[in-house]
Amino acid sequence: MKKYTIIANWKMYLSFDATITQAADHFDALTLFAGNKNINLLIAPTLPAIPELATIFKDTPVGWCAQDCSEHLAGAYTGQVSAEALKAIGCNACLIGHSERRKYCNESTAAIAGKLQTLLDYTISPVICIGEQEQDFVQGKAISALESQLKPILERLQTNQHKINGLPIYLAYEPAWSIGTGKIADELHIENIYAWLHQQTLKFAPSVNWVLLYGGSVNTQTINFFKKFELIRGFLIGRASLDFQEFEKIVKCIMVE
Ligand code: PGA
Repeated sequence: MKKYTIIANWKMYLSFDATITQAADHFDALTLFAGNKNINLLIAPTLPAIPELATIFKDTPVGWCAQDCSEHLAGAYTGQVSAEALKAIGCNACLIGHSERRKYCNESTAAIAGKLQTLLDYTISPVICIGEQEQDFVQGKAISALESQLKPILERLQTNQHKINGLPIYLAYEPAWSIGTGKIADELHIENIYAWLHQQTLKFAPSVNWVLLYGGSVNTQTINFFKKFELIRGFLIGRASLDFQEFEKIVKCIMVE
């Protein structure tokens, strides 16, 4: 039976209070999903809510994922949050390189590789997000766009392989044009991308515990389509993770093999 990782990316959609309520109101269902033997559930809420949520869900299998971290370990970096602080508040994982951060915060690939390093130093699983723009997709240049995002990351992992010790390393393919739009790629494109990702991860860092994820308009309409790809071992779910009824349907669909 396949094990799927589900990351609910709540972005900055909810207020602080609504974030706590959203999780606490569904405590039983969320702990049940996370306790299912073929599900690994991580929630990525607004960062300041994590300490309170980690307390409410203490001793449950629900995991917490930050949405970003600093590329620096410590120092004069006003406004940034270190991997050490994420670890202290109970984060198991952290997104890096999400397309919204690349777009709105001009994150460079070098900075993302630095973030990866700090997360590895604190044994927090990175959720490395990569994805091409629509123009690259249309022009058949997706793989070369992904390659420029992925290569520095794989090189960093290659030199750190011996330190990782089985820590899951999530690699999420999220076409930028598919995030929040309802548009999805065709089967052939998805097949090709995952075959290439699989080959790249094995080539650069074969001893790493890779978990390949997909993100971008995963919802009740699209989950059955994405579920059939053998190499996809989980999903990063944005908008659809906020409507609990919809999220529950998606999770149940993933739970049923
Ligand atoms: P979406 O977002 O599910 O709303 O498309 C996915 C993501 O940004 O991770």
